[in-house]
Amino acid sequence: MGERIKLKSLGAVGARVEDINLSQVTPDQLNALKQAFADHEVLFFEDQDLPPEAHLAFAERWGEINVNRFFATVPGHPAIAQVVKEPEQQGNIGGYWHTDHSYDQIPALGSMLLARQTPPVGGDTLFASCTRAFSTLSEGLQQMLMSLRAVHSARHVFGAQAEYSEAMKGRLGNSDQANVDAVHPVVIRHPLSGKPALYVNPGFTLRFEGWTDKESAPLLDYLYQHIGRAEHSIRYQWREGSLAFWDNRATWHWAVNDYQGSRREMHRVTIEGEELHPA
Ligand code: SIN
Repeated sequence: MGERIKLKSLGAVGARVEDINLSQVTPDQLNALKQAFADHEVLFFEDQDLPPEAHLAFAERWGEINVNRFFATVPGHPAIAQVVKEPEQQGNIGGYWHTDHSYDQIPALGSMLLARQTPPVGGDTLFASCTRAFSTLSEGLQQMLMSLRAVHSARHVFGAQAEYSEAMKGRLGNSDQANVDAVHPVVIRHPLSGKPALYVNPGFTLRFEGWTDKESAPLLDYLYQHIGRAEHSIRYQWREGSLAFWDNRATWHWAVNDYQGSRREMHRVTIEGEELHPA
């Protein structure tokens, strides 16, 4: 693999792939990228001159495209979600720890986020590894968590009554489709690496199945602060033309909202996933 792609690990999670043109990935390079994606959970590619068609074409080599039902899309490209914050807007999309699509019974594999316009300062994204976080829990807690499932929902985020949905007016839609909850194991066996991964997140997880919200909150809060620890996460600084490809089943992310008055525009292509199984 060493000769086919050049990788630089970024620490707790993620690796930068160097000297590669995503418009011209060879089959050998793609195989090496697939292994690297399973190993590192987020891949970063920089200085990519990718028109929307090439962004989509690269994504299609990993699976079917999932068109997110809540996001506005790039004009002329209905399969590309537009993640934009205008200078006059206060709130941003994804400004909290979450993993995309855990509210779906078949959650998307991951997304390829391409930076089209970055603010002069700030607008970084944090990523955390949920496999690493699981591995640093005690054996006792690991065993207990493996017996649990959790309920996830989009209602409180993308539903018509949700504060977030109201604040993001114009950039989100289809609130009527935020109407079905999903149940997943709390510890999944990662479909690519086989590693156990914690699969709960503050964005979309409501409670443990069979527990009340109040009973679930203390343990969920403990897991949230544990996963988000500095030892399990990295901070990625974008440049225009950088692309991050993350795995939703192994990672969390958080778009840092610290660039008031500047514009940031990202294009997101999401890839279909599969049903998740317990570790
Ligand atoms: C997202 O949550 O998909 C957006 C991430 C970002 O804009 O950095």
